[in-house]
Amino acid sequence: MTSAKIAIVGAGAVGSTLAYACLVRGVATTVALHDVDADKVRAEELDLRQGLQFLPTAHVEASTDVSVCAGAQVVAVTAGAKQQPGQSRLDLAASTTSMLRTLMPALVAAAPDARFVMVTNPVDVVTYAAQKLTGLGTEQLFGSGTVLDSARLRGLVAAHCGVAVQNVHAYVVGEHGDSEIPLWSTASIGGVPVTDLVSEADRDAMAAEVVGAAYEIIKGKGATNYAIGVSAGRIIEAVLRDEKRVLPVSTLLTDYHGIGDVCLSVPTVVGRGGAERRLEVPMSDSELAGLRASADRIRATARDLGF
Ligand code: LAC
Repeated sequence: MTSAKIAIVGAGAVGSTLAYACLVRGVATTVALHDVDADKVRAEELDLRQGLQFLPTAHVEASTDVSVCAGAQVVAVTAGAKQQPGQSRLDLAASTTSMLRTLMPALVAAAPDARFVMVTNPVDVVTYAAQKLTGLGTEQLFGSGTVLDSARLRGLVAAHCGVAVQNVHAYVVGEHGDSEIPLWSTASIGGVPVTDLVSEADRDAMAAEVVGAAYEIIKGKGATNYAIGVSAGRIIEAVLRDEKRVLPVSTLLTDYHGIGDVCLSVPTVVGRGGAERRLEVPMSDSELAGLRASADRIRATARDLGF
């Protein structure tokens, strides 16, 4: 296990599940949890700590004080308003970005050299706002983006084609939300284009299922936590182990197929430096048009909030 400390900000459903995922996977030797709710953060600390005997060796710390994040190599931010049934991720933007105005400077003061992984929704707007508030480089601060959406899509394609999910290469790019785009033109299984294996009607149905996935889960249990917890944990692991994994994380684009001044997800090399470099994936005209529309929608929301 890497001798490392990660800090998780927000002890809600996502933050506490991310902490649990990191402990189970042995991602770090210290997992610190910060939340402003003293009873909640203490309760999560106790519950996590009492299972440590059965997990790879690690320590759990928790506090209402951001100083608990000091010395962390990675800080994951999950704090924010909870998406209610029927609400879109973008509906959460105003309350979340106002919280970031005080939270982000405090976190950077506590852990100035950390890589910051924003998980809070709407993650692309949150990542953009956090970047503006901290002035950190795009390598150092990025969002969990469409890593989970891509996993959802790959899972559906894998089940449909009867192959292991690890052998499906397919990315969802753009907003982590309603305007996201599956890149079918480059999706493949063992070098065979997915477009040769899955009909257009089935591909459309899969894309719609991915967009609707969080809504369905929130309707049934009030929040999503497991899949986002393990996928964010996987991103953190790629950073701590300097894996150079290609993951669709959300970063500030400057000139990606001509798109700039917006945070959204495209395949990106993730390693010790954080979001180290983006891959310019070839896209069909309709995929590129979709990515541009997604960029415009995220940018407009950020502008409305004064970013
Ligand atoms: C989801 C939340 C994390 O997609 O937005 O499950």
